[in-house]
Amino acid sequence: MAISLAFDVYGTLIDTHGVVTQLEKVLNSSVSAKGFSQTWRDKQLEYSFRRGLMRQYERFSVCTHDALNYTCLHYGITLSDDDKQVLLGRYSALPAFDDVVDGLTALKREGFHLYAFSNGAAEAVESLLEKANIRDFFADVVSVDDLQTFKPNPDVYQHFILRSNSSMETAWLISSNPFDVIGALSAGLKAAWVKRSEDAVFDPWGLEPTTTITKIPDLVTKLLSQ
Ligand code: LAC
Repeated sequence: MAISLAFDVYGTLIDTHGVVTQLEKVLNSSVSAKGFSQTWRDKQLEYSFRRGLMRQYERFSVCTHDALNYTCLHYGITLSDDDKQVLLGRYSALPAFDDVVDGLTALKREGFHLYAFSNGAAEAVESLLEKANIRDFFADVVSVDDLQTFKPNPDVYQHFILRSNSSMETAWLISSNPFDVIGALSAGLKAAWVKRSEDAVFDPWGLEPTTTITKIPDLVTKLLSQ
């Protein structure tokens, strides 16, 4: 039976720190653009977790927008509405990591069924993948927006199984986000952790990724040897 691969989008296929160059243009030199970008991303995810727990769903783009406002307050920075719009616009047109096209090409050649599976709403993810020139690799885009909650709610992983017509035995999550990997494992899927930086730490919860890779092309041999 064909194996279905659910690719997390932000941070796994698409580099969320692609906003750093734009940030360097609008921030004064006393603030690190990288630090700002990291706080923005961390807060965006925290807002999605909190909205999921509180059952106060708003789209991921709202979490991104609110997190940008938080980050400005945190650093004591006033950005004009125009600057914020430019940053949010950049966030909807982020680049793919360098290894992504080679990895997806090889996986598709081997007959794996590829899906994008994201906290982002389907239209936003479709457009992001189009702009990064990787949309055509995927059979479909599956979004948590269908269920109005966020990863790592177990329901969203089950939703992926239904939408992709796969099963727990034949579905893998591929993600650089440890919370996503642990969410998928705990829901019953297999999961590959993409350790995108040497200092990335996997949460010590007693659950280990089914496999760990540092770049997408390495997944081919790992999956073929399973
Ligand atoms: C996503 C977030 C978790 O794409 O990065 O689902």
